[in-house]
Amino acid sequence: MKRDFLAETDFSKDEIVDVFKLARELKDKTQKGIEHHILKGKVLAMIFQKPSNRTRVSFEVGMFQLGGHAVYLGPQEIGLGTRESVPDVARVLERFSQGIMARVFGHHLVTGLAASARIPVINGLSDLLHPCQILGDLLTIIEHKGHYEGIKLAYVGDGNNIVNSFINVAGILPLDLRIATPMDYEPNADILKAARARGVSQIKLTQDPVEAVAGADVIYTDTWASMGQESETEMRRKIFRAYQVNDALTAHAAKDYIFMHCLPAHRGDEVTDAIMDGPHSVIFDEAENRMHIQKAIMVKLMA
Ligand code: CP
Ligand code: NVA
Repeated sequence: MKRDFLAETDFSKDEIVDVFKLARELKDKTQKGIEHHILKGKVLAMIFQKPSNRTRVSFEVGMFQLGGHAVYLGPQEIGLGTRESVPDVARVLERFSQGIMARVFGHHLVTGLAASARIPVINGLSDLLHPCQILGDLLTIIEHKGHYEGIKLAYVGDGNNIVNSFINVAGILPLDLRIATPMDYEPNADILKAARARGVSQIKLTQDPVEAVAGADVIYTDTWASMGQESETEMRRKIFRAYQVNDALTAHAAKDYIFMHCLPAHRGDEVTDAIMDGPHSVIFDEAENRMHIQKAIMVKLMA
């Protein structure tokens, strides 16, 4: 039976821990220049409805390092659900490739692809979730903090796909998750309810960024206007002003906190240059780990 990775909850706790271990092994081999052509001759079709730097490059280079090949299908090319129906796209791509990675607006597009394709489908970001990002982020936390269990993780900003994914993972791995958003910009209520029902982590919502950040091991933020919300940028800038990650806010965190951001960042909006480029920032390790975790995910699903 083929498996997909559309949401963190598609993997069990043991499987996620195995993916971390495999990612570390593959990263080590990559750094030592040891060939690891585990997906030799295999092809990943990559569908992008939205722009990308990290996701495209990390999947493409990762596939190359695994001995396979990645085909980029940009926003103008495939017309997912418009030029061609979602099931037809899936049934064509499965004739040419052994896996599909898709970055989409509506989450139903990745579930639709997965339902029709007989090959694994990986979610490379939807409006709802960004699961590859969050597993890579946990790998970065493990590398910098030694573990993830009980980590005090403060997310400050918009209740978007990134924080929905953190909530999903908090239903599987034990975290101390604190989320500060403005009123009416909270994360997805169904995802929150399901994660809380699993009883694995503390998940606290507040409108007070200082409360979220107090004693935090990790401070995480993301853009105030996600891809597709560009027309709301000015309005959101006013609403989110008090949620900027800056020297005054981070002063409330643990002394050895790390700063994380999935990137791209809007310097001067959700975060200042001083924090982005400061001694606590691990943002480029975080970006690099996208590739190592995704290689592990592709090996798990496509080998
Ligand atoms: N973090 C992330 O997914 O970056 P891109 O949008 O550049 O792929
Ligand atoms: N929330 C952001 C994440 C970008 C990686 C977006 O969806 O645009």
